[in-house]
Amino acid sequence: MAKTAIITGAAGGIGKELARRLAERKLNLVLVDLKEEAVKAVIEELGLNDSNSLAVAADVSKEEDVKNYVDKAVEKFGSIDYFANNAGIEGPLGNVDDLSVNALDLVYNVNVRGVFLGLHYVVPVMKKQQSGAILNTSSLAGLMGAPGMSPYVMSKHAVIGITRSVANELAPLGIRVNAVLPGTINTRMMRQIEKNSGNPEDYKKLNEAATPMGRYGEPQEVAAVMNFLLSDEASFVTASLYTVDGGMMGQ
Ligand SMILES: NC(=O)c1ccc[n+]([C@@H]2O[C@H](COP(=O)([O-])OP(=O)(O)OC[C@H]3O[C@@H](n4cnc5c(N)ncnc54)[C@H](O)[C@@H]3O)[C@@H](O)[C@H]2O)c1
Repeated sequence: MAKTAIITGAAGGIGKELARRLAERKLNLVLVDLKEEAVKAVIEELGLNDSNSLAVAADVSKEEDVKNYVDKAVEKFGSIDYFANNAGIEGPLGNVDDLSVNALDLVYNVNVRGVFLGLHYVVPVMKKQQSGAILNTSSLAGLMGAPGMSPYVMSKHAVIGITRSVANELAPLGIRVNAVLPGTINTRMMRQIEKNSGNPEDYKKLNEAATPMGRYGEPQEVAAVMNFLLSDEASFVTASLYTVDGGMMGQ
């Protein structure tokens, strides 16, 4: 029987490329994002159909929405074998004394509460199955600071914390939990961060110069690593952090 994967943030740059890779493996895909039309467009682009995919509109920061996408996945496909807990937002840019407190709540609700809720509802399903693999999307910002981005940086450090904790909870059952840590990747998110910086061209050049490979990564390059971690090829890999950053962290 075909295995089933849930991807949150599936209409975004990285989520869509992961969906493409998992579709090549003929997995059933439950694609979750804020807007159903956006997810349906991905389903159409990837040539998926009703029998091997499901679009679910959900705000990952809302408990009832998360419970719903998990319930719908189990109802339709009977199992959750892989879970890419990937949805995230960058939030506003600004130094800690300039940002509103609301900026922290905004980013935390999606990037931390959303990740916790996903795990809270998916893990019981995997425990019952006694199998599964989970991949949380952190960021290089989970390992280092970035001026003007404290809420995002804090949230991505938190994703590493929950990855390690839950990986240890589930390792005895053979259920794996890892994190992928992209560097600067060519998606809407980086375009928005560049825009928020006030000087998009200079900001992009600065990022490229800070990357040993001298360029942004492509979402396909992140999806390739995610695809590996969400496969049996990674059968002894858990509680691990995988940077995909053109060498930035290794300097
Ligand atoms: N692009 C980068 O350079 C980069 C670097 C490091 C980490 N990341 C992380 O990768 C993940 C994917 O980002 P991306 O680059 O594909 O960005 P993106 O903006 O293209 O995709 C993010 C997706 O998440 C969805 N989303 C946002 N809030 C949501 C919510 N409350 N509920 C459900 N869905 C929601 C968006 O609608 C969007 O489709 C994020 O967690 C991001 O923080 C990205």
